[in-house]
Amino acid sequence: MSNLLDVKGLNVTFPTVDGEVRASVDLNFELNRGETLAIVGESGSGKSVSSLAIMGLHNRAQTLISGEVILHGSKGSTELISASEETVRGLRGKEMAMIFQDPMSSLHPYYSIGAQISEAWAIHNDGSKRDGMKRAIQMLDLVEIPSAAKRAHEFPHQFSGGMRQRAMIAMALVNNPSLLIADEPTTALDVTVQAQVLQLLQNMQKEFNMGVILITHDLGVVAEFADRVNVMYAGKIVETAGVEDLYYRSMHPYTIGLLRSIPRVDQIDNHRLDAIKGAPPSLINLPIACSFAPRCEYSSLVPGGLCNQSQPELEQKEAEHFARCFLPAERIAEVRS
Ligand SMILES: Nc1ncnc2c1ncn2[C@@H]1O[C@H](COP(=O)(O)OP(=O)(O)OP(=O)(O)O)[C@@H](O)[C@H]1O
Ligand SMILES: [Mg+2]
Repeated sequence: MSNLLDVKGLNVTFPTVDGEVRASVDLNFELNRGETLAIVGESGSGKSVSSLAIMGLHNRAQTLISGEVILHGSKGSTELISASEETVRGLRGKEMAMIFQDPMSSLHPYYSIGAQISEAWAIHNDGSKRDGMKRAIQMLDLVEIPSAAKRAHEFPHQFSGGMRQRAMIAMALVNNPSLLIADEPTTALDVTVQAQVLQLLQNMQKEFNMGVILITHDLGVVAEFADRVNVMYAGKIVETAGVEDLYYRSMHPYTIGLLRSIPRVDQIDNHRLDAIKGAPPSLINLPIACSFAPRCEYSSLVPGGLCNQSQPELEQKEAEHFARCFLPAERIAEVRS
């Protein structure tokens, strides 16, 4: 698998009247072609903000962004943070694309689905309207919209939620991008449709050999679709590992807490969700200590009150497995079990 994306020391900060909101702090990760990297974490942990920064979708005048995002596209490598808006615009929709929870944020209510996909194609290709519509129908076919040639002329409100999501995927993939970021792509759909849309995404990924960043709250989805996982907490990656390592050998108390909060079918009788107690810290004036320490059940196991005094680094705990926690790997293994 070849390297597609390198994120190095990415920071995203919003200056506000109350102070600087540090929404992403020193993010470092990589993505290969054909690979699915999941990003999980509670609401407000910085999943969307980081992804929007990769796609160049923040308002540059109101956002402080530093670090590097290097996209190794089909025509060479580009560092996106220092690149001009024009360069980024040339890559967005072509080499990289993003889909969102709400398809109506990407689809215009007044134009037919086919016209919109055709337009997304025309931005990056020379060709007639007819060529564009042909391509749109081909894409609608690919995402399994029945009677694609007919339905291409319909409007978003004539599509069901699941079909709108498919249409948005068709539009995102019309130029065969190498990177797709899917931000909670199925959260608004019912469970059966959700599974179908995720399966479709996986098929598309194989077809186009895309690198996919999948943002989700659903750890079940992660287990089924992701190769690797970044767990985010208060703007930082607190753990990163292959999906099996993360599930079976979690190295961060936050991840352990998230996994404990998954409902399990075999515990339906005395069902109790062990949601993590407490709330994440304010992203303004983040503590210098570990941001999770106030909620952590295990910080007392670390000698000298270290967790409340300094910030743990993202440290290698096992091969390809990193966590931002002072607890030694052996101690974590004990608490996990
Ligand atoms: N334009 C902005 N100005 C100030 N703060 C912002 C801005 N955009 C986002 N934030 C803050 O940045 C933090 C991270 O937000 P983000 O949308 O990335 O969270 P998330 O992990 O995607 O959450 P969710 O799971 O709810 O989608 C939040 O605290 C949010 O309030
Ligand atoms: Mg989000």
